[in-house]
Amino acid sequence: MTVKYDFSGKTVLITGAASGFGKAAAQAFANSGARLALLDINMQQLKDSSLVLDETGAEYLLLRCDISNPAEVNSAFNRLKEHYGSLDIAINNAGVVHPLNRIADLTEDEFDKTINVNLKGTFLCMQQELSIMLETSTGTILNTASVSGLIGSPFLGLYAAAKHGVLGLTRSAALEYGRKGIRVNALCPTFATTPMLDEIAGEKGQKFQQHLASQVPMLRLATTQEVVEAMQWLCSDNNSYMNGAAVTIDGGLTAA
Ligand SMILES: NC(=O)c1ccc[n+]([C@@H]2O[C@H](COP(=O)([O-])OP(=O)(O)OC[C@H]3O[C@@H](n4cnc5c(N)ncnc54)[C@H](O)[C@@H]3O)[C@@H](O)[C@H]2O)c1
Repeated sequence: MTVKYDFSGKTVLITGAASGFGKAAAQAFANSGARLALLDINMQQLKDSSLVLDETGAEYLLLRCDISNPAEVNSAFNRLKEHYGSLDIAINNAGVVHPLNRIADLTEDEFDKTINVNLKGTFLCMQQELSIMLETSTGTILNTASVSGLIGSPFLGLYAAAKHGVLGLTRSAALEYGRKGIRVNALCPTFATTPMLDEIAGEKGQKFQQHLASQVPMLRLATTQEVVEAMQWLCSDNNSYMNGAAVTIDGGLTAA
């Protein structure tokens, strides 16, 4: 693999690192010389997925954490501070979807889970990240939102509400902390081929994915690698002036 970025000496935190974008991002940042703090609610899957990191020689810390639980978030970030002392890059990427349904048919439990993980979890992690980054007046935060943060998403109404909220947090934090040397941006991918998409597609599987791809001007879904490439550039020093942006990576879906 070609290493395009140099994150040597940087501490990079990734939530939802056991699967999909987060897992692939962990590998890409490890290949680029970063030391990692990887958080996920599923510790066994996180351990399994991090085995490949041993080949990179990168230092990594695995932390089981439900990002929607304030006590767990607090304890995970205390461990991170004890271990690394500082934080350069944080990718708030953990997220969940709910079953496809019209708003009138979604449940209160689905509301609570979707909002608690995607929005409250991002908020809780951002609070910790900002307080660590303020100590050095440097750092960059990237929130994995979605095109569902920018436009309505039929049958994924709660997910869209949560991701719109993530963009609100991102833009507000950019306004508050830009002067403190911290950049805060969001990435807005369209559907990509990760386990989350398999969960959404359910029994409809390939047919559903083909339907989604047919809606995209480029007539295909994103690959995980394309999303991770964007994550790396957005978090790199090459991207030194972008702050408060909601960057689409969607094959043109939201261009209309
Ligand atoms: N895959 C897509 O099509 C797509 C498109 C746009 C945005 N996104 C967003 O990208 C992010 C990553 O999605 P993915 O496709 O890689 O999904 P994924 O399901 O493959 O991975 C999500 C990870 O988050 C973890 N997680 C879930 N709840 C958690 C919690 N409470 N605390 C900590 N970790 C938790 C899961 O264990 C899993 O490892 C999500 O925020 C998702 O909303 C995904």
